[in-house]
Amino acid sequence: MAHDHQHDHQHKREHTHPHSHTDIDWGEMAGHLESQAELFAPLYENVLGWLGKEVTEPGLIVDLGSGPGVVSCLFAEAFPDARVLAVDGSEPLLDRARARAERQGVGDRFGVLAGELPGVLDQLDNPADLLWAGHSLHHLGDQRAALTAFAERLAPGGTLAILEGGLPSRFLPRDIGIGRPGLQARLDAMLEEWFERMRTELPDSVTEAEDWPALLAAAGLKYTRSRSFLIDLPAPASERARTYAVEIFSRLRDTVGEGLDAEDRAILDLLLDPADPASLHRRSDLFVLGARTVHTAVRPT
Ligand SMILES: C[S@@+](CC[C@H](N)C(=O)[O-])C[C@H]1O[C@@H](n2cnc3c(N)ncnc32)[C@H](O)[C@@H]1O
Repeated sequence: MAHDHQHDHQHKREHTHPHSHTDIDWGEMAGHLESQAELFAPLYENVLGWLGKEVTEPGLIVDLGSGPGVVSCLFAEAFPDARVLAVDGSEPLLDRARARAERQGVGDRFGVLAGELPGVLDQLDNPADLLWAGHSLHHLGDQRAALTAFAERLAPGGTLAILEGGLPSRFLPRDIGIGRPGLQARLDAMLEEWFERMRTELPDSVTEAEDWPALLAAAGLKYTRSRSFLIDLPAPASERARTYAVEIFSRLRDTVGEGLDAEDRAILDLLLDPADPASLHRRSDLFVLGARTVHTAVRPT
């Protein structure tokens, strides 16, 4: 199944597998996670608008695997009467989430909880009306068990929403005038293999078919719904979009670049060379087009 893995899977994680090349150092990812979620804010606003029609006046919203809290703060803004709790395994990221909430004037109803999911949820005092897991479930070894644990933390009538899958983002046309057309498709294929290795190397990894509605139903939830949301930032790219594309391609270079053939690797290096007129920094055809899928389900009353 296609995912957009470019955003989050290219670096090392401190604790669990210090010697594995699929480990991710989440603290080191802070800036990238922030700039990505900020660039994708229009997409998240549409997601929140959709969720807002389903979930009326939530008292407690919990963001599972919140990272630096960009999306947690969007929840706080969209639901002005709700308390928002950001949960994550990385304390440095939660520090940033808290600082962001203070800056945005929602600090008085914003909390953080540090610890490994899903076990850390035992520390939740109150059931949640809305649980959100954005790009985080697939970092947990046993996704089925995690969904069951998430569902148990919902108040009756509460909603669990997971953002998983969608389409790999595209930044360039098929033919960019240099090298063999289709570079991004080849990178995507390599990233799929990287993602599979990443999943296999997670602690307590369990292979699971990614039928998210079925998994939500198996967790005891009902009324599953899925919807995809678009991010569409056409060329010419803004500086922010350009910076994001450079980050993504740099991470691709680090993660799967060595597996490319010599011609593709040379093109990737050229795209990343700010001095080259055909680089991502300077080319006129750069855009950001992506799709993210959100699956929701409700705990029966
Ligand atoms: C790809 S980031 C997504 C961040 C945020 N939800 C967003 O969409 O911008 C995944 C997040 O999950 C967290 N995470 C990964 N595995 C975890 C675990 N086992 N327990 C708690 N948090 C975890 C990471 O620290 C990271 O912040």
